[in-house]
Amino acid sequence: MSNEVDTDEGTAEETLLERMGGASAVLDTLEIFYGRMFADDLIAPYLERADPQVLLEKQYDFLGRMLEASEYDAERLRAAHKELVEEGLSDVHFDALLVHLRAALVASDEVPDDCIDEVVAAFEATRADVLCK
Ligand code: HEM
Repeated sequence: MSNEVDTDEGTAEETLLERMGGASAVLDTLEIFYGRMFADDLIAPYLERADPQVLLEKQYDFLGRMLEASEYDAERLRAAHKELVEEGLSDVHFDALLVHLRAALVASDEVPDDCIDEVVAAFEATRADVLCK
């Protein structure tokens, strides 16, 4: 079986990406997620420099691999957010991001409810790198 936490459903060999509903579910979630992020006055100032479509595509690519392999390129995250942290990006924004993420996962018809906590936890695990701690 797996050396990770056992789900006792016999699905331990499936990746989180597969259980979440695959690439289509990631894209659906991200579209809802960024709709909320760009509409949030707390977060929007930190997204000004980003082209929404390019950001979504990069995030889609990044997340696909993170949720499939349970690992990610920490240096890339640090480099992408370093200037934003210098401009004030902090835990307050990251906490708000997690609220939007959870809401997007709940709103997506493609994501099974039983993997929402795990996807949120996978994002939480990037906090120290995104915030360059
Ligand atoms: C409130 C929190 C966040 C804000 C405001 C934010 C904002 C941004 C912005 C503005 C960029 C574009 C940077 C540039 O091109 O100069 C970016 C890039 C990126 N962000 Fe975030 N981000 C946040 C959190 C996260 C999280 C939690 C992740 C991943 C789990 C993430 C993944 C990425 C990736 C993969 C890129 C593209 C990096 C590249 O160009 O290779 N971001 N982010």
